[in-house]
Amino acid sequence: MSAPTAISPTPIPPTTPLFPPSLISPTVLAALPEGYTCRPLQRADYHAGFLDVLRVLTTVGDISERQWDERVEWMAGRGDEYFLLVIVDGGGKVVGTGALVVERKFIHNLGLVGHIEDIAVAKDQQGKKLGLRVIQALDYVAEKVGCYKTILDCSEANEGFYVKCGFKRAGLEMAHYY
Ligand code: ACO
Repeated sequence: MSAPTAISPTPIPPTTPLFPPSLISPTVLAALPEGYTCRPLQRADYHAGFLDVLRVLTTVGDISERQWDERVEWMAGRGDEYFLLVIVDGGGKVVGTGALVVERKFIHNLGLVGHIEDIAVAKDQQGKKLGLRVIQALDYVAEKVGCYKTILDCSEANEGFYVKCGFKRAGLEMAHYY
């Protein structure tokens, strides 16, 4: 009798969007430079420069394609919690990204709070309003999925950018690193 073979889960197709493309703001799409588009993250973005864009923000490390796939599939399995989107140029290269993580609360009548995370625009693409479009796109998702507010942490050096995106200073960030 042959040994039972391990059943590995079927990977999601490389171009399956992480969340419904109908959540991408038509206003943002219309405002992008010609040939550029904004869409949900997909597994194939591993080969489209996604991690290199994130390296503009901070250390990313050496992430293998397998590790990437596992993380994307985990996020996809969380359904309506992880909304990572990208801006791609005319050649299909990722030039900007941002994430909205939706937290479900008891307070405020089972309120939903959006957390904006990991905003990055490729160095040679900064200053073209792509960062602004990423934030506008995430704001649109947050409103559509029912968040009553969206919050983020940033450095003093980026405060002016977020003010231009419509955010205002509220509170103080505290951190405990492990
Ligand atoms: N301080 C003040 N104003 C700024 C800054 C800044 N650091 N950066 C941009 N702006 C202004 C622009 O001048 C522009 O103003 P205007 O409308 O008067 O012309 C407006 O903000 C929109 O700027 P964009 O062109 O959309 O900015 P860009 O595409 O360059 O993206 C970003 C800005 C995302 C901060 C980019 O510089 C970047 O990737 N930086 C490195 C990574 C980073 O720091 N990310 C943010 C981390 S915080 C977080 O993730 C929650």
